[in-house]
Amino acid sequence: PKVDVGSGRLTGRHVLVTAGPTEEPIDPVRVIANRSSGKQGFAIAEAAAMAGARVTLIAGPVSLPTPAGVARIDVGTADQMLAAVEAALPADVAILVAAVADWKVKPSSIKLKKSDGPPALQFAPNPDILATLANHPDRPTLLIGFAAETNDVVANATTKRKTKGADWIVANDVSGDVMGGARNQVHLITDDGSDNWPEASKADVAGRLIDRISQEFA
Ligand code: CTP
Ligand code: CA
Repeated sequence: PKVDVGSGRLTGRHVLVTAGPTEEPIDPVRVIANRSSGKQGFAIAEAAAMAGARVTLIAGPVSLPTPAGVARIDVGTADQMLAAVEAALPADVAILVAAVADWKVKPSSIKLKKSDGPPALQFAPNPDILATLANHPDRPTLLIGFAAETNDVVANATTKRKTKGADWIVANDVSGDVMGGARNQVHLITDDGSDNWPEASKADVAGRLIDRISQEFA
């Protein structure tokens, strides 16, 4: 199902979306990154704007155009993404699609030299943006996380919904060649259990999710 353009079902609502990877610097030229393309998050931001919402899109490093009607803030690290998310509150809906780096290292201020041998990187945990929002005084009314899983997709995502304090989790199986592709197959995990959505384009998955969100605010 496509979003009904012009129906304005999210008019007056603020929808916050995170998308893409984050990247953590090792030194001034090297980063730790991941394979998120940002396509699904950008499609969701676009669908929310088409439904009439005011949309803030907080994007990690991706090469994608900004969807029409969307206010975009570009960030690099997970710490920067969290700061941008908190600065954008309050929001009626937050959809955290970004693949946030789970760990960071303390970056060297000068370029590491190959001749010094492989660096012994010391990892420290990044803040969990979803869990932070779940416990935030300005918690969004509807807080939605994503879960990229390679195995036991529904079981892992159902656990994640509970432990992270999200209202909904959109779970997808990334064991195939999904990352960076144009299509997606997801399960929507809510209080009522899990709903298996048919494989579709990322635009159609976005439209269906925005339709489902709109029903909550009808
Ligand atoms: N997330 C976040 N901040 C982090 C890590 C994840 O906000 N530091 C969000 C993601 O944007 C996503 C959800 O949490 O909406 C689930 O991310 P995921 O990586 O699947 O969960 P983790 O709890 O990090 O578990 P793991 O990577 O071990 O599977
Ligand atoms: Ca993670």
